[in-house]
Amino acid sequence: MIDIHTHLLYGLDDGAETLDETLAMLRLASNSSTKELIFTPHIAEEFKFPIDLAVEKFKEVKEASAKAKIDIKLHLGFEVRLDKEIFAKHEFDFERLTINKEEKYILVEFPFLDIPPYYKEIIKYITTSDITPIIVHPLRNSRIIQNLSIIKELCSLGCLMQFNADDTRDPRSSGILLRLLKQNLVHFIASDAHSIDMRPPILSNAYRFIEKRAGKKYAEGLFIENPRKVLEGDIIDDWGLQNGGFFDRIKDIFNR
Ligand SMILES: [Fe+2]
Repeated sequence: MIDIHTHLLYGLDDGAETLDETLAMLRLASNSSTKELIFTPHIAEEFKFPIDLAVEKFKEVKEASAKAKIDIKLHLGFEVRLDKEIFAKHEFDFERLTINKEEKYILVEFPFLDIPPYYKEIIKYITTSDITPIIVHPLRNSRIIQNLSIIKELCSLGCLMQFNADDTRDPRSSGILLRLLKQNLVHFIASDAHSIDMRPPILSNAYRFIEKRAGKKYAEGLFIENPRKVLEGDIIDDWGLQNGGFFDRIKDIFNR
């Protein structure tokens, strides 16, 4: 599996604090069948680190992980808060915030309590640069939870949706997730790992949940194939269509 959203790069945000913690989390991810992982430190008002420092730490961790013989391939991206000041600040080095600096995909986080009134302008700003915004954990935003049609609207504006492995755990969010998956509005599931204990970098339980409730093809799409396209800069435009009919066999689960 490929984990596209993690806070394992130490000493930058509210994720791992030391190199040892980073390595312990990488070992845990690798032992849980994650083959590749993207470090995505927060770019937000409350975390002030230069991008150069993240690049430096990324190199250091890659070397340390290879030396420790941890079998996992590492990539660098960022999780950017949807905030006009943040976007204005990075107007001229925006490509550095995209995954692997490839200018194809970027992780975007809404504030938890609200949706800024200018959100469409920022999404347009990203998509007109031919970059696809991946909206992270939409179910953690209270306005989206109250009005799930916003997810459909965001997808129609060119966004893709990443849900957290956590969302498969409680009955309410997992029910919503399955309903959205049926409408092809779920594109990735990632750990959003912050520490060994709180939200660990483990995808295997969530994978099994999707495999059991929606089938192997969806599980492979969410955890392997779509993330692979992100890493390779390929387009994800026909997601779900090729799986047509899959849900028909299990349609009754949505009424449970
Ligand atoms: Fe995150």
